[in-house]
Amino acid sequence: MKKYKTLNEIPAKCGPIFLRLDLNVPIKNGVILDDTRIQKSIQTIKYLKSKTDTLIIATHLGRPTASEDETKWDQKFSTLILQSALEQYLNTAIKHLKTCVNYDAPSPGIYLLENLRFYVGETQDDACFAKNLKGPCAVYVNDAFSCSHREHASVHAIAKLLPSYAGLLLDHELKTLNSFFCPPEKPMMAIIGGSKVSTKVGVLKSLIEKVDYMVIGGAMANTFLKAKGVDVGSSLVENSAMNICTELLSSTHKHKIILPSDFIVAENLQSLSHKHQNSGEQIAGMIFDFGPKSLEMIHKTLELCNTVLWNGPLGAYEFSVYDQQSCALAHIIAKQTKNKKLISIAGGGDTLAVINKLNIAKEFTYLSTAGGAFLAWLEDALLPGIDALL
Ligand code: 3PG
Repeated sequence: MKKYKTLNEIPAKCGPIFLRLDLNVPIKNGVILDDTRIQKSIQTIKYLKSKTDTLIIATHLGRPTASEDETKWDQKFSTLILQSALEQYLNTAIKHLKTCVNYDAPSPGIYLLENLRFYVGETQDDACFAKNLKGPCAVYVNDAFSCSHREHASVHAIAKLLPSYAGLLLDHELKTLNSFFCPPEKPMMAIIGGSKVSTKVGVLKSLIEKVDYMVIGGAMANTFLKAKGVDVGSSLVENSAMNICTELLSSTHKHKIILPSDFIVAENLQSLSHKHQNSGEQIAGMIFDFGPKSLEMIHKTLELCNTVLWNGPLGAYEFSVYDQQSCALAHIIAKQTKNKKLISIAGGGDTLAVINKLNIAKEFTYLSTAGGAFLAWLEDALLPGIDALL
């Protein structure tokens, strides 16, 4: 099997290194809410500093509108906010550049480029943008596993222009996921949440073949329920994806699908009152979380399993009334893992937010920094950013 090159293969004094990180951290009102991705990138930065005098760091941050006119860049997406967090962890000064192209790195040090997604060429995987992006660099390192499912210039086109290497985090994520899933310890349960079935068709179809049980959570569950003919009131439903749900619900794997049988229902998210309802009743409003009976069913099924893969909360966890079953699920998985009865792998920003809020991250077997990339890897194993390194 072809293998990418790793950092120990970079020749000493190789010249400036371009390092693609995923420092896409959650930010609210100008404050970084969770700096896990920054923390996990530090080891690669420190390692590369022993190989070069000049390190150029690039990342995207959020999903800003790209523009050729810099004055149109929305500064709330500027990477400037990352500078001091990086400086604190590295205990050294970082120079922030207000650009990603035609830049210079006149003196030795660590440079942080502006948000890659301010440029149209980034998401278009534009070769010309990639050439400008590489600037004076002689070596390319991808340590952004969580972005490697994107065929973007900084993870794909640029790798064709320079000798390319996998960073420490990317290598660790891939080795760990391979060790758990190739092959997994069965029986295995997947818990997949999210709002849209249409964005997860590939992974749902591929996972259902591999797992023994598949719990559908989040608003996706509403679409499945409606496809089964269950009343979901005025809940969020993706009507255009009903045919995919019907296909899965009538496939030879239909017995593996676990949908909620009771719910927490309210008129809307702002509503102060909510009530418990069962599947089969006429739903008076919108479904925002699983109910306790559904959680009990997952709990019992989990006791039959050796591996669980969790990506996406069960309900609208951002609202404390509707995070109950996701939190309870996190505790159940953590306890079974601690008791050595379960291998638990979780990924995705929302899932990690639930786990981190409860302070039980250490009790899980493995937490991936990746959300979409983790699912894409499960679906297809070879991601464009990894392929480009080969
Ligand atoms: C993520 O947060 O999953 C990665 O940073 C990728 O971000 P994207 O979904 O905006 O490409």
